[in-house]
Amino acid sequence: MRYRYTPTTDKERLKSQADSYYKFDMAAITEAIGGRTKLTVLDLGCANGELTVSRFESAAFTKVVGVDRSDEAVDEARKSNASDKFRFYTLDLDGDFLPRLRQLMSENGIEGFDIVFGAMTAHHLSDPLRTIAAIRSVIGEGGKLILRSSDDGGKLCHPCGELLAELLYRYSKIVSTIDRHFGRKMPKLLYDAGYGGVKMMYKVTDTCNKSTASKQNMYDIGFGYRLQEVDAAISTAASSSPELAAEREWISSALDTLRREFDKPDFWYCNTTYMAIAEVR
Ligand SMILES: C[S@@+](CC[C@H](N)C(=O)[O-])C[C@H]1O[C@@H](n2cnc3c(N)ncnc32)[C@H](O)[C@@H]1O
Repeated sequence: MRYRYTPTTDKERLKSQADSYYKFDMAAITEAIGGRTKLTVLDLGCANGELTVSRFESAAFTKVVGVDRSDEAVDEARKSNASDKFRFYTLDLDGDFLPRLRQLMSENGIEGFDIVFGAMTAHHLSDPLRTIAAIRSVIGEGGKLILRSSDDGGKLCHPCGELLAELLYRYSKIVSTIDRHFGRKMPKLLYDAGYGGVKMMYKVTDTCNKSTASKQNMYDIGFGYRLQEVDAAISTAASSSPELAAEREWISSALDTLRREFDKPDFWYCNTTYMAIAEVR
């Protein structure tokens, strides 16, 4: 089963994640717009629209279209965040989405987007290369694509480094529909999809001198959702097995151990988040 936004489990986590990455996103957006104004934006995987509005509320942006495959997400976005400037639509980027996207562009008087933005969405796609290549055709002259993603290889800690490595490995064997090594793949993927001028940006965070609440937030952003994803993957597995149940218990226990480590003053954790900015070649 592929991931889609669900308000009960995702709203708070995404809010806290969006707050943590505000400055990073704005640095990339500022770089990409390069002083241009009257810009149109497409936000890929906009969820409930909160991040969309927070990043593109400035007057430099005149029309912002957010798309997501979750009906619940789009309903919430429309109720809470829609306006003449911000429009939200259900669209599955894994499907044959271009005809409907072009129709939405025409309804909103958009010939080509100046900015296409996607935060933490591309690694959920079934074929990111196909989707990102198709998106090229809706980017206007001089337009830019911005993708933010994560990569489990950018997560380090000590002590418990071996536990973390084993946890991430065993998690990836069960949750195979999400590419948690996507960050490192973005430059090549963008090149293969027909983009050029790729610029990578990095946000590195660590636990040094952080409050307990801030360290807990770091744990939640990096690991808080993982057992839920394991359970979702197991619930859709072809058949249940004692091995799978035992694996789930091992992951649950390893997550508990790791969470407790985050409370200790001498525990160090470091995470890198990845941003790519590219233009159509
Ligand atoms: C991790 S959330 C990120 C949401 C938001 N961009 C943010 O950073 O807060 C990923 C979003 O992508 C959406 N999504 C995943 N696969 C999708 C697809 N194939 N088409 C459209 N949306 C998709 C999910 O429903 C979810 O809302």
